[in-house]
Amino acid sequence: MNNSPSMEDIVSLSKRRGFVFQASEIYGGLSGFYDYGPLGVELSNNLKKLWWDAMVHARDNVYGVDGAIIQNPMLWQASGHIAGFNDPMVEDTITHKRYRADQLAGVDSTDLEELAQLLKDKKSPDGNPLGQPRYFNMMMQTWIGPLQDDAAKAYLRPETAGSIFTNYLNVKETMRAKLPFGIAQIGKAFRNEISPRDFIFRVRELEQMEMQYFIDPKDQEVIYQQWRDFAWNFLIQELGIREESLSWHEHGEKERAHYAKAAHDIYFNFPQGPKELWGTHNRSDFDLTNHTKASGKDLSYLDEASNERFTPYVIESSVGLGRMLLAVLCDAYQRDNVGGDERIVLRLNPKLAPVKVAVSPLLKNKPELVELARKIYTKLKTEFGAVLWDDNGNIGKRYRRQDEIGTPYCVTVDFDSLEDQSVTLRDRDSAKQARISADDLINSIRTGLEGA
Ligand code: GAP
Repeated sequence: MNNSPSMEDIVSLSKRRGFVFQASEIYGGLSGFYDYGPLGVELSNNLKKLWWDAMVHARDNVYGVDGAIIQNPMLWQASGHIAGFNDPMVEDTITHKRYRADQLAGVDSTDLEELAQLLKDKKSPDGNPLGQPRYFNMMMQTWIGPLQDDAAKAYLRPETAGSIFTNYLNVKETMRAKLPFGIAQIGKAFRNEISPRDFIFRVRELEQMEMQYFIDPKDQEVIYQQWRDFAWNFLIQELGIREESLSWHEHGEKERAHYAKAAHDIYFNFPQGPKELWGTHNRSDFDLTNHTKASGKDLSYLDEASNERFTPYVIESSVGLGRMLLAVLCDAYQRDNVGGDERIVLRLNPKLAPVKVAVSPLLKNKPELVELARKIYTKLKTEFGAVLWDDNGNIGKRYRRQDEIGTPYCVTVDFDSLEDQSVTLRDRDSAKQARISADDLINSIRTGLEGA
C-alpha cells in the first residue's frame, strides 16, 4: 500500500475534518489565504507551545516579544526589504499572467541574467511566449490615517524579525541581558507572493516562529551549527517527524536573501517534492549596522570582560507555522488495514493531537449508558481539556473518524461498564482494545500521552 499522501489527500482531510478551510470560502476563496478550523487551531496551538517551550522556557537567555504587524516604514527601508525583498517574475506576453521565473526555470536562483538564459526557449504554462524576467517586490502596502498619499504609506511586516531588531536595546536593557542572548517571536507576516501554491505551503498571509540570537562574531560558526542542530532535533524529537522525511539544503550565493551571509534550510518531503521547511541564517551584523545608521541609535555592544565594543552578529532560526503543520499532517498520514478494513490514520505525536481522547456510550438511546459515559467524559475533560464526546453512528465508524484526526485514545462505555465500572480503552496506532477500570483511566491515558 502506498503510504505517502498526495496533496489532494491532505486538502480533502483538512476540509472534511475541520483542520484548514479556504478563507472567504462562501465567496469563492481568496488566493493565498486560509482559515484554520477547530482542529487546525488546536494543532497549531500545540505546535506553538512546543516551539515556545523549547525556544524560550527551556533556556535562560531567550526572551519573547510580540511586536506590532505595522511598524515605522523606516524599519523596512533600513532592513533592505523595500529595495531588496524581491522575487523574480516573468509574464506571459499574451495572457499577462505572472509567474515565478525561478519556478518556471526549475532552479533555486534569483539571478535575472541566468533566468533569462534558462527561459529563452521556454513557453508559459498556457503555451505562450514569455517576457523578460524582472524583479517584483513582495511587500504588502497599506495606508495609515485618513489620507492615502505617500506620506501615509506603510507596510504589513514581511517577517517577524524586524521588530526583534528594533527591540534589541529594549530587551537587552530590561532583561539585563548579556551576549549571547536571543529574542523570539511568533506572529503573522505578509508577502505578496506572485504565485501562491500547494495549499498552505506558499501563502500570502503566514505565521512565523522566529528567533534572533545576538552573538560575538567570533562565535558565529559554532553557534550557527548549534541552531541548525536545534531545528533538526526539534522536528524529530519534539514533533515526531521521521528523519527520512528531512534533508539539508545549503543556499547558493545567488539564492540567499539580501541579508544572509550563510543559509541552511531543512527540506521536508512534501507531496510536491522536497521543499524548504525551516531556515537557519547567519545575518552577520547586517541588521544592527543598518538600523544604527538609519535610526542614529548606537546598537553596538560593550564586552565588559575584554572592554571591546562591536556590533553583534545575528544567527536566525526561522520557520513557518503553516508549513510545519502541513509537514506534520503529511508525515503522520497513513493508510492501513484493521481487521480487513482500510482506514486512514493520522499517527500524530500525542502531544500534537488536537483531540486527546474521545468518549462514547455504546448506544446513544440507552440513558444509563449515556449517564455513565457523560460522567467519565466530564472527568477526562477536566484532566486533559481536549476531550471529545462522540455518539454519532456505530462504534466502528466512530473509531475510524477519530483515527482520521489522530485521536490517540477512544473510551467506550457498554453494558458491562454498568456492572463492573470498567470501560474499553482503544489505542489509535495498534487499534487494540483493552478492558480497564474507570478509576485507572486517567493514569493510563496520561502515561500513554506523556510516554510517547
Ligand atoms: N526572517 C527570515 C525569513 O523570513 P524566509 O526563508 O523568507 O526567512 C522563513 O522565511 C520561513 O517562513 C520559511 O522557512 C518558511 O517556513 C516560511 N515561509 C516563508 N514564506 C512563506 C510563504 N509564502 N508561505 C508559507 N510559509 C512561508
